[in-house]
Amino acid sequence: MSASDPQGLIVVVTGGAGFIGANLVKRLLREPGIGGIRIFDDFSTGTNREFGDPRVEVFEGDLRDATRVDEVVRGASRIVHLGALPSVPRSIADPRSSIDVNIVGTLNVLEAGRAHEIEHVVVASSSSVYGANPILPKAESLATRPLSPYAVSKLGTEALANAYFHSFGLPTLAFRFFNVFGPLQRADHAYAAVIPKFLDAMKRSAPLTVFGDGTQSRDFTSVHLVVDALAKVSMQKFVHESPVNLAMGTRTTLNELIDLLRAIHPGQIDVEYVEPRAGDVPHSQASSELLTSLLPDLEAVAFEDSIREVYEWYFSARTSDPA
Ligand SMILES: NC(=O)c1ccc[n+]([C@@H]2O[C@H](COP(=O)([O-])OP(=O)(O)OC[C@H]3O[C@@H](n4cnc5c(N)ncnc54)[C@H](O)[C@@H]3O)[C@@H](O)[C@H]2O)c1
Repeated sequence: MSASDPQGLIVVVTGGAGFIGANLVKRLLREPGIGGIRIFDDFSTGTNREFGDPRVEVFEGDLRDATRVDEVVRGASRIVHLGALPSVPRSIADPRSSIDVNIVGTLNVLEAGRAHEIEHVVVASSSSVYGANPILPKAESLATRPLSPYAVSKLGTEALANAYFHSFGLPTLAFRFFNVFGPLQRADHAYAAVIPKFLDAMKRSAPLTVFGDGTQSRDFTSVHLVVDALAKVSMQKFVHESPVNLAMGTRTTLNELIDLLRAIHPGQIDVEYVEPRAGDVPHSQASSELLTSLLPDLEAVAFEDSIREVYEWYFSARTSDPA
């Protein structure tokens, strides 16, 4: 039985059981006018099912299954498409799955969006599309030079969204996420991101593993900023004819991140430097000009404060439960 409010907006969040998706569901529940949120997920990497709100409904399914995607999208008004197989190393281990889920899955979502006259679709692309292009900061106008099957899959994701806008008039916006971090991000799988992996190692008093010499840098972005932007563009139905970076244009090296963690953590932190990984880019930093022109009221939180928040979340009792 659906508990959604027929008067309110119904938003489909693909990948809603995952890290960014679950943070988005929580953020959308605070948005006025939300009648229902449909999580579409296969629970392959995501685990979040319980949101304590009857407006949230969970639909288990695979993005590669066009019929199932169509069923879940029917009757909704917005889609935020976050479902994907993330991770560069995962795509190197198994390119076909990343391409299938991330490109064919996006095609299925857009086809359902078109068939059911969905008012707005946001899709998640990635800074990895800039790949081998060395120019910093990464302005959206730079040439994309993907270095991994994952990056190709995200280029396909964003290109399809933009093509559906141009070809069919489906209102879409593709965001390029940079390195997103925050509460609910999991460390307990082979392809975890660097911040949860570091926190997990610290909790076990194990050395932090750094691929390369630690001078590689990233535009680490708080998940709160990301979900705030996603909620705003979805609610206001913002369209852009080409992809938009979703990061504030900062750059932190892994060695700087480790120094920050040392300043917060009372225990000793040892670091083990190993060979660089295939497919990783040395530096990443967004140009945030386009983002801030579209969403001038986005509020950035200081990196130190966001790191402290995720450290406290990770070391609190709650984090012994699955995210
Ligand atoms: N976290 C980052 O730093 C980052 C950076 C760039 C882009 N992104 C993109 O943001 C989105 C969300 O990433 P995340 O970090 O929350 O990762 P996540 O793994 O926590 O979330 C992805 C979700 O998609 C689901 N999923 C995977 N395959 C599926 C399938 N075949 N059918 C249905 N559901 C499926 C997973 O179970 C999971 O819940 C992804 O599209 C990812 O590519 C994330």
